[in-house]
Amino acid sequence: MSQNASLPSARDGFDVDRIRRDFPILSRTVHGRPLIWLDSAATAQKPRAVIERISRFYEHENSNVHRGTHLLAEEACDAYEDTRATIAGFLNAATPQEIVFVRGTTEGLNLLAATLGASLNPGDEIVITEAEHHANIVPWQFVAKKTGAVIRVAPVDDDGDLILEAYERLLGPHTRIAAFTHISNVLGTVMPIREMTALAKHVGATVVIDGAQGVPHCRVDVQATGCDFYVFSGHKLFGPSGIGAVYGRMEQWQKLPPWQGGGGMVDQVTYQESTYAAPPRRFEAGTPSMAPIVGLGAAIEYLNGIGLAAIERYEAALLDYAQDALRGIDGLRLIGMPKARGGVISLVMEGIPDVEVAQALDMEGIAVRAGTHCAQPILNRFGLQSSVRPSFAFYNTRAEVDVLVNALRKISLRR
Ligand code: ALA
Repeated sequence: MSQNASLPSARDGFDVDRIRRDFPILSRTVHGRPLIWLDSAATAQKPRAVIERISRFYEHENSNVHRGTHLLAEEACDAYEDTRATIAGFLNAATPQEIVFVRGTTEGLNLLAATLGASLNPGDEIVITEAEHHANIVPWQFVAKKTGAVIRVAPVDDDGDLILEAYERLLGPHTRIAAFTHISNVLGTVMPIREMTALAKHVGATVVIDGAQGVPHCRVDVQATGCDFYVFSGHKLFGPSGIGAVYGRMEQWQKLPPWQGGGGMVDQVTYQESTYAAPPRRFEAGTPSMAPIVGLGAAIEYLNGIGLAAIERYEAALLDYAQDALRGIDGLRLIGMPKARGGVISLVMEGIPDVEVAQALDMEGIAVRAGTHCAQPILNRFGLQSSVRPSFAFYNTRAEVDVLVNALRKISLRR
């Protein structure tokens, strides 16, 4: 694929052609056309390094962890704990013990809602934003129903940017939890997470960040951000599905009650009662997803090899290019024009159902998501039930954007 002269290139140390060769699936065809994967916000493709690492685990190291005394158990344990350390380094956590493995962002947010929520009282407030995924709304509704706490919602403007003054006004002495997304999976808005965290901490709230769409596109420094918790999924970070992690400041983890009960999360157990292991294992009941965890470590090492700073630069230029080109199509409306955009662009085509647009794109080999994106309230905020959402990663090219734009132009003529 050719590249935009203004995009970071092989000369700048960012060689997208070489990177694409690391992802075997990108060389397949769909309906006789080269696959153009613009659905990375739903799930990202996997580099060979991840696929091979998982095979190697099963071929050479497979064993349960923290439960064996033999060599394979030791090797599996090392690989497992190495990933914890890799994630801690990736997020700049103070220690690997601040990283808890979960199945993904949804499970991580449910863990936090159940444990943080246990100490809420009637009238306590949970502040979210209009741009949240269902995974950062519904678990807090469970908590509110159970405890009498109240959910308050901070608005975004017509560009899809958070109205920071309105956010500040919502925060107050009753705010116990502030939960917000790093990047909106519908609008692509990169939220001002440092400012939001500072405002929420100022009123004494516990800050939870949904980083599912954040980590694949932005460098994250949890200590500099100052948040209490940051949650992400492996499968959107070019790693396996079924695995994710929750970063939490150690003093926060230490205050939380256990969540699921079972093997691995305990210290002493009698028929009457139990004492619990220290974090992170207190929150990791049962046999964990060993191979996916090791695969996630490989994904992060792969990303570190490219460098998140280079990825950020490349994607910013690619998204600008895509946004400008899409704006020139007759009958196409972009949903939101945030000041800082990460990963996704939402659009609708006047008079043509979103699913029909996505199906027509599929016939051209282009995979996008159409529908509610598990975020109905923010679509409703823009007067919509659904949208078409191309989403981008560092393996996409300007040439692919050109194919998308030409295909959408053709579709727009159907009106
Ligand atoms: N939450 C994922 C998305 O936005 C699945 O597509």
